[in-house]
Amino acid sequence: MRPWPRCTQADPTNNGEPFRELAPGSLRRGPTVRAPRPERARRELIGEMRPFPSLPARAPCAKCVRPPVAAEIPVKIMHMRKRISISDLRIGMFIEEFCGSWMDHPFWRAHFVVESVNDLERIHGSGIREVWIDVSKGLDVESEQIVVANLEDAEAEVEQQLKNVAASAAPRPRREVDKTGELEHAAKIIADSRQVVADMFGEARLGSVRSTDDAATVVDNIANSVARHSAAMIGLVRLKSADDYTFMHSVAVCALMSALARTLELDEAQIRDAGMAGLLHDVGKAQIPLTVLNKPGTLDDEEWKTMRSHPERGLAILRGARGVTPTALDAVLHHHEKVDGSGYPHHLAAEQIALVAKMCSVCDVYDAITSDRPYKAGWQPTIALRKMTEWASGHFDDTIFKAFVKTVGIYPIGSLVRLESQRLAVVVENDPVHLLQPTVKAFFSLRSKMHIAPSLIKLGGKGSEDRIVGYEDPATHGLTRVDELWLPPGAKAA
Ligand SMILES: [Fe+2]
Ligand SMILES: [Fe+2]
Repeated sequence: MRPWPRCTQADPTNNGEPFRELAPGSLRRGPTVRAPRPERARRELIGEMRPFPSLPARAPCAKCVRPPVAAEIPVKIMHMRKRISISDLRIGMFIEEFCGSWMDHPFWRAHFVVESVNDLERIHGSGIREVWIDVSKGLDVESEQIVVANLEDAEAEVEQQLKNVAASAAPRPRREVDKTGELEHAAKIIADSRQVVADMFGEARLGSVRSTDDAATVVDNIANSVARHSAAMIGLVRLKSADDYTFMHSVAVCALMSALARTLELDEAQIRDAGMAGLLHDVGKAQIPLTVLNKPGTLDDEEWKTMRSHPERGLAILRGARGVTPTALDAVLHHHEKVDGSGYPHHLAAEQIALVAKMCSVCDVYDAITSDRPYKAGWQPTIALRKMTEWASGHFDDTIFKAFVKTVGIYPIGSLVRLESQRLAVVVENDPVHLLQPTVKAFFSLRSKMHIAPSLIKLGGKGSEDRIVGYEDPATHGLTRVDELWLPPGAKAA
């Protein structure tokens, strides 16, 4: 048998001499370094790789026979979900999610294996820069490829970014009226607005809109409601049905634009311009066939081209309309541009995109991804906000996006949250100065798994020791009527 090489490691307890070799037969048998069978199975299941060192290729010494303890062994977690650049995407990878709104790519069926060069080319042409892949369902990245983020790190980074927004200078708190009363007003304004937008889309379908006078009245009513109590209006416009999406999306973006303009401290004329841009931004969709607008599957090249023509169609429809401003027209044409130049129709970069168009881009995406569509259920507002934070770089203007977070709150009204006291609560009111401490209504005990008598809690207020420790999806808990907890009986969803 080939003799083992001599150990050269220094023993600090023996004047730096090499470790003493043990006499043959004196080897003490230490505990096994292999993990017990159930533990190995668990690691294999979750993809946790713990590389156990092979036997030392030298004579055992006093140090060498000591088995490595767990804390000394480097642990490599193999993450199942990885965010990668689309330049690293390959045939055989399983796309779990696109890093961008589903209106920004033709693959509305967002989970699939990349099967062909054609798939790759279409993804590259979509303007999406990154995707999440699931390596348990498809090929992994090659060793030389870069993983932009794994799931846990990305989530932690997003939470930190939102906390930074909360810690930054808050908008000046405004005196607002009672929310319950304003919710009833807002519900009526929304119902009246629907008909105006429906009429405008009807005109647009025939070729052009003659006047925006009625639209201006809608914008004024919405802007006044937002000025009285912004959360009432923007909470309510989210609750639209999938069937009514086309019209109510315009009303919702109008309300979000008005509220965002106030956060940005724009003047009254600019606030109304922003509201008008929101109301008109998708009027070009009136000329897109419903079979394309509501298609549940992937759009083919021709359909995708048609869909992306709606900003230019919108401009053509409104060009001769009485009362429309150049700012609103610009936003109609450029609300799908992105600050990194990957948007459409003109691939404008940050400084080339006007303020109101940049605002419209943020409000449009938020409302689109929080709304139910015929082919996809909307995300919860907390989840939508976190997805947008993840995509924000390259997509949205940083200052405008942060102002938007302050506008809707880190836990927007209607969000389901988990409290430290192990209760579920719905957010009923936001505090613009303390975004992490909204007023909530606790109604469900996670310990007993039962409903409890609803109680209103001003987090961070006098006598409240509780705090938010996470956000939840109502569907996970089988809760279907969460909105009734913050809506007064008289105010109905749009
Ligand atoms: Fe659009
Ligand atoms: Fe839109």
